[in-house]
Amino acid sequence: MLSKYFVSLFTLVVAVMAAPAKRASCSNGRTASNPKCCVWYDVLDDIQQNLFEGGQCGSHESLRLTFHDAIAFSPNLTRHGQFGGGDGSIMAFAQIETATVANTGVDEIVELQRPFALKHNVSFGDFSLARRLEQLRGRPRLQFLAGRSNISQPAPDGLIPEPKDSVDSILLRMGDAGFNAAETVDLLISHTVAGQEHIDTVSIRVYRRGTPLDSTPSTFDAQFFVETLLNGTAFPGTGPHLGEVESPLAGELRLQSDFVLARDPRTACEWQSFVTNRDLMALKFQIVMAKLAVLGQNPFTLTDCSEVIPNPPPAPANIRVAQLPAGKTLQDIQGSCPSCPSRPSARLLARPRPLPASLFPRN
Ligand code: HEM
Ligand SMILES: *[C@@H]1O[C@H](CO)[C@@H](O)[C@H](O)[C@H]1NC(C)=O
Ligand SMILES: *[C@@H]1O[C@H](CO)[C@@H](O)[C@H](O)[C@H]1NC(C)=O
Ligand SMILES: *[C@@H]1O[C@H](CO)[C@@H](O)[C@H](O)[C@H]1NC(C)=O
Ligand SMILES: *[C@@H]1O[C@H](CO)[C@@H](O)[C@H](O)[C@H]1NC(C)=O
Repeated sequence: MLSKYFVSLFTLVVAVMAAPAKRASCSNGRTASNPKCCVWYDVLDDIQQNLFEGGQCGSHESLRLTFHDAIAFSPNLTRHGQFGGGDGSIMAFAQIETATVANTGVDEIVELQRPFALKHNVSFGDFSLARRLEQLRGRPRLQFLAGRSNISQPAPDGLIPEPKDSVDSILLRMGDAGFNAAETVDLLISHTVAGQEHIDTVSIRVYRRGTPLDSTPSTFDAQFFVETLLNGTAFPGTGPHLGEVESPLAGELRLQSDFVLARDPRTACEWQSFVTNRDLMALKFQIVMAKLAVLGQNPFTLTDCSEVIPNPPPAPANIRVAQLPAGKTLQDIQGSCPSCPSRPSARLLARPRPLPASLFPRN
């Protein structure tokens, strides 16, 4: 609780401090409230044009990278006299950190992004935060504070939750980093724009560009939250694999961690609350991502450069409430929140959403 208030207080103070009277002139006639932010216009121009062949890809991977870099923050390890992470080290120590099981697949995005950080002489820790969502429909605006130190050490192994982990173990780890059960769910909002390539490596050959975790992996909607509540019926490929459980839809993969968190009394209420309220979901994501972004950092030393990130277009009205996928009924929903009706049915649109014909194209 306390730390939550600290974060919003810090954020407010940082915003006030970073507002000098005159705006700095940046490249191409743009301006910024702080001259330190100008470089980020150039970084974003460059990655829009030159990273991932026209900037069409990489939002998903960048978001995952943000989490893996930040969550290695461990006050518990510090208390035990060990290095407690939290310094944006993945890019600097990719060979060590991306060799762990939890970071499988993260190496690709790190290698793609590093030359851009070097070219623009910005710190690796800032860079992993600068670009995360821009290609995704309905994305919320995220705060971007710059100025992290470039000096880091390799994060200890074992600090990133894995899909095979129990709810107890995930909540213990997340609690160490400063997130309570509801905030852990808020962070998992990211899985509404996610897919996998490394849990089941056979399915991805079938579906070419990865297996999505929900039916709309390029849209920042609440489909993930209703689809994870559905009774699992089959594996999309040759499952089960470690960390995978049966999913409700062909072509969709379900992580065991998402399955158990959706059904645990400590996390189910927050989970279910998003099914009928996508805008609340987007707001909670903004708040929790602001907290994630400053883990282990002193926000007073950072500069608010959020203004350089282009404003997202407004979320399309038709994604405000999740829809039941075609062929499913409310009977297939497995609700577990003890304090609310077992099924989030009241406002859930029972009109089935047809599944896309081409299996889930991904950005
Ligand atoms: C309990 C915690 C979590 C677990 C166990 C977990 C696990 C996973 C796994 C296994 C994948 C598939 C990776 C692959 O095979 O390529 C994945 C994908 C992803 N995760 Fe998580 N995750 C967790 C929390 C988070 C959080 C907090 C974020 C961001 C804030 C996040 C963002 C993503 C994204 C964006 C992807 C998709 C990457 C892509 O499509 O390339 N995850 N996650
Ligand atoms: C704290 O760290 C110790 C030593 O690494 C570990 O045994 C323990 O499980 C950790 N506890 C938490 C709450 O993370
Ligand atoms: C950040 O550190 C890396 C080495 O880990 C170095 O190559 C890079 O030039 C540094 N960048 C800045 C902005 O100091
Ligand atoms: C790169 O950034 C570092 C640290 O901010 C600074 O000391 C160095 O002079 C910069 N190099 C160039 C070429 O601008
Ligand atoms: C869930 O699906 C399984 C098949 O995988 C079926 O046997 C079971 O009856 C279903 N449960 C509910 C509550 O629909």
